[in-house]
Amino acid sequence: MRILGTGSALPVYTLTNERLTEFLDTSDEWIRTRTGIQTRQMLTDETLLELGVKAARLALENAGLEAGDVDYILCSTVQGDTVTPSLACLLQKEIGAACPAVDINGACAGFIYALDLADAYLRAGKAGRMLVVCAEGMSRLVDWTDRSTCVLFGDGAGAVVVDGGEGLFHAHLTSDGNAVPLNLYPNPGNSPFAINPKPMTSLYMDGPEIYRFAVSHSTADLRTVVEEAGLALDEIDHYLLHQANKRILDAVRARLKQPEEKFPSNVYKRGNCSSASIPILLDEINRAGELHKGDKLALSAFGAGLTTGACVLSWTRD
Ligand code: ACO
Repeated sequence: MRILGTGSALPVYTLTNERLTEFLDTSDEWIRTRTGIQTRQMLTDETLLELGVKAARLALENAGLEAGDVDYILCSTVQGDTVTPSLACLLQKEIGAACPAVDINGACAGFIYALDLADAYLRAGKAGRMLVVCAEGMSRLVDWTDRSTCVLFGDGAGAVVVDGGEGLFHAHLTSDGNAVPLNLYPNPGNSPFAINPKPMTSLYMDGPEIYRFAVSHSTADLRTVVEEAGLALDEIDHYLLHQANKRILDAVRARLKQPEEKFPSNVYKRGNCSSASIPILLDEINRAGELHKGDKLALSAFGAGLTTGACVLSWTRD
């Protein structure tokens, strides 16, 4: 599998740490030192669909393709504008494609899960080209009175177009079915038959527990996937990690004994955009000219599930 093009889109509104102090008992100093985050983009009057469509169109344009050139659309989202129909179906119509389209929810690891599914589909010959779009509106899911979660997240969308052409791709995924440290329960509906339904909640996260999980799993996953791909850690040119928190990125980098310049990061200006984090970052470094043909990339993400996903791929574009 190889990546043919990338795209991303962000809401217009920039939320600063200073603005958060107007309604939360927090400070710019606390947020910066604990997370590295300074600003993030927030949905206001935009829809997630609009962001996803923009990212998808840019990825297609970057690949020199049109919507009719893709055979399958995979969207990764924790929750789209509608629970049903899927974000992928609405996006498919909006961009003018006529192929199958479906959502997946791998939480923050969704991009790696989607790439792995795309790889399998392409290898099986069931599609020639696929569009993967990650679009996340975490600002709609957090509790804006909970300072330990709402300061961490941002909204945005990232997309890639992939095909089955020659290119290194190897993934390693995990999932452990543990809802305790990170969860969100939906509207339970009003079934007269439901007994003690779990009430709707906002995103709950046990920060210290997730921090430990993220550092240990991301480090282990990267070691595993790089070795399984037949490479050494030093042979990787770019490590793209889920942009959850600068302290997590620094801790993983230190454990892998790799230089800072191999770990591009946009968490300071984007916050944690869940599964859209890595494809937004990928698009930013692609457009900045930081990727060169033959470069080896290692990606790693972790999130609710608890899921983790890591993959190694080669950059095949000039
Ligand atoms: N401003 C000021 N104080 C705060 C804030 C805030 N925004 N948030 C929490 N605090 C307080 C807490 O109330 C606590 O106060 P107390 O000691 O009086 O009880 C104190 O700061 C320490 O709280 P901790 O949660 O122990 O703080 P910690 O040092 O662990 O940092 C953080 C919290 C940044 C959330 C950290 O645990 C972390 O990075 N965890 C990983 C979370 C993450 O990245 N998740 C994303 C991956 S999963 C996904 O993407 C969905």
